[in-house]
Amino acid sequence: MSTSNPFIILGALDAEVEAFLSHMDNKQLVQGGRLAAHTGTLNGKQVVVCKSGVGKVYAAMTTQWLIQQFHPSAVIFTGVAGALNLGYEVGDIVLAQDCVQYDMDARGLGFSVGTIPYTDLRYFDSDVDLLKKAQATVTEHKLHVGRILTGDRFVTHEHISQLLDLKSELGGDAVEMEGAAVAQLCTIHQIPFLIIRTISDKANADSPIDFPRFLPVVAHNSFAVVKHILNS
Ligand code: ADE
Repeated sequence: MSTSNPFIILGALDAEVEAFLSHMDNKQLVQGGRLAAHTGTLNGKQVVVCKSGVGKVYAAMTTQWLIQQFHPSAVIFTGVAGALNLGYEVGDIVLAQDCVQYDMDARGLGFSVGTIPYTDLRYFDSDVDLLKKAQATVTEHKLHVGRILTGDRFVTHEHISQLLDLKSELGGDAVEMEGAAVAQLCTIHQIPFLIIRTISDKANADSPIDFPRFLPVVAHNSFAVVKHILNS
């Protein structure tokens, strides 16, 4: 694919894309029905920045539209996540080695949890090159490489025991609500992707308070990583 195909930078919430929008040049709004994206340049590179909305359906629908509309060279999903790994702190950045839909559960039909039934799709690997570039970013924030679990649920202490059961089978360092849906679309369309998440909470009883408190503070921590990828 030509290098002039844009990078898509996608986030679920306004707070997760606003740093990218505010640093873009030549910004233009493109609408497709109720979906909207901004084209422009970031560090001189062609980008499309878009807010998907929350959850796997919005994430998949928006990704499909963006791929058809812009034929991207890569898709980067950026936003916040709850920590499952006890070594992760609020503000740390998680670069997904891979991600999985932990709420895809057809064990009743004999499929392992996370497997999309009647396919060989389960763990979606981030693009090796994008991951390598991201890891080389110099930033004040701690960078981890880990496994992201995606599902349509904001995880607090009420769900953690169920999730820990799944974690014993799936592993998983952070939990969020969109990454593996975007990854499934990109895998099917053979577009390189990377999920980058910053920890906003620890998926526990404090999460309903920590999430809105830290979202505006840490949502931009990935900005330096994305800039580094664009410049590499
Ligand atoms: N995104 C940020 N924190 C989260 C949590 N605790 N559960 C699901 N998605 C999240």
